[in-house]
Amino acid sequence: MSSPRVIGCMPLAFEAVQLGAGDVAILRGLSVEIAAGPPTVLIGPNGSGKTTFLRVAMGLVAPAGGRIAWGPEKSAAAPRRAIVFQRPVMLRRSVLGNLLFALRAAHVEKQQRERRAAELLTLVGLEGFVHRPARRLSGGEQQRLALARALARDPEVLFLDEPTASLDPAATKAIEDIVRTLAAKGIKIVMATHDLGEARRLAGEVVLLHRGAVVEIGPADSFFAGPKTDYGRRFIAGELLT
Ligand SMILES: Nc1ncnc2c1ncn2[C@@H]1O[C@H](COP(=O)(O)OP(=O)(O)O)[C@@H](O)[C@H]1O
Ligand SMILES: [Mg+2]
Repeated sequence: MSSPRVIGCMPLAFEAVQLGAGDVAILRGLSVEIAAGPPTVLIGPNGSGKTTFLRVAMGLVAPAGGRIAWGPEKSAAAPRRAIVFQRPVMLRRSVLGNLLFALRAAHVEKQQRERRAAELLTLVGLEGFVHRPARRLSGGEQQRLALARALARDPEVLFLDEPTASLDPAATKAIEDIVRTLAAKGIKIVMATHDLGEARRLAGEVVLLHRGAVVEIGPADSFFAGPKTDYGRRFIAGELLT
């Protein structure tokens, strides 16, 4: 008997995805294919649809038109995925308490939760903060705990929405190092940022959004060396675009 074929969950395809709020169009027939590999970074000005893209990809909101498909066979069945929002909300519990809650919600067996929590806290560098009230952590520490919570689901794909917004350089570097570690473990990272420096540091692939559609997609090196579109050139030149 032949063993079952192993089919990867990537690419993630958006096919003419439309989404609006009232009579405002937010995603306007957005099509893109995001492949396996190093992090894909979404860039674009405020209001271009980055957060909405991630919410749709995470399955938190259904498109009004078009579809999302996963893997080479364009399946509607999504892989294990997790998202970290820009401003994570911590439970009024300890660092460990927040993580054990997430592990229980992810259906990790009770006798494995403590060990898994310890592993995740080490991974994000919070092993010295186990009993600290989560809401007393600094912004960067809270963001690292949010990453650990998201990893409780053992995601194949991890969506990050501006994870370093409002963090200082040291805290930003700590988050970026974790992102690189996760990508090296084979987790597909899809991350929005408004910070072009961060996009340069982390991206394998860049997706430039403008008014709810993809303007340009390509390998990060060639994008930053010379965007193919006029909009892309003006965007990386730092012009204030809308
Ligand atoms: N629930 C909503 N109701 C009305 N407008 C929304 C809603 N969510 C997002 N928008 C609008 O959609 C556009 C895209 O938003 P968003 O995805 O947050 O962009 P970005 O993350 O790139 O800043 C913005 O103009 C925003 O104001
Ligand atoms: Mg946003």
